[in-house]
Amino acid sequence: MSKVKAAIFASGTGSNFLAITEQATADQLGCEIVLLVCDQPDAPVIQLAKRYRIPVLVFRPKSYSGKEVYEEEIRAKLQELDIEWIFLAGYMRIVGDTLIDAYPNRIVNLHPSLLPAFPGKDAIGRAYQANVPTTGVTVHYVDAGVDTGPIIDQISVAIEVEDTEEILKQRIQQVEHHFYSSVIQQLIDASDDGSNL
Ligand code: GRF
Repeated sequence: MSKVKAAIFASGTGSNFLAITEQATADQLGCEIVLLVCDQPDAPVIQLAKRYRIPVLVFRPKSYSGKEVYEEEIRAKLQELDIEWIFLAGYMRIVGDTLIDAYPNRIVNLHPSLLPAFPGKDAIGRAYQANVPTTGVTVHYVDAGVDTGPIIDQISVAIEVEDTEEILKQRIQQVEHHFYSSVIQQLIDASDDGSNL
């Protein structure tokens, strides 16, 4: 049986891209990663995709007259490859209506805080500076806002007294690498049963 096809959208380092791809390649995820979409031509994540022979659609947003135009190009590629799911993993752009309307409840994002707390950039640093006892990781559906879509699942990470901001970041990323894949697996299993989480 052929597996459900998914794309990962990422802009940077790609540690979550790597974690998901490793599990998918080892047959431990119910989907196959068949495309990386990246808006930063020099991003390290592109090299990771090449290592796994995953095709990359890389684009420079500034070369287009607007979001609609480049998202139309992305949508055409996703549809050509029969992609059913989009997983954002450090994709530093707001997704527009062109993609949201084409993939209702099929675009998912990972965010390093317990949303609705600390949406947007530098969520880990802001949680650390705010001295909250607990932060965490959220997986949510993507809507037109910044980290505002319906929450699918969350996991807490306590901030320890001995944590530096860097150590906290490392601990949260380690959690992300397992948590995101397990939520993806549940989403795909649920959609096989015809339901949403
Ligand atoms: C992750 O912390 C994710 O939660 C956030 O962006 C970061 C991406 O890290 N949305 P990486 O590129 O996967 O290492």
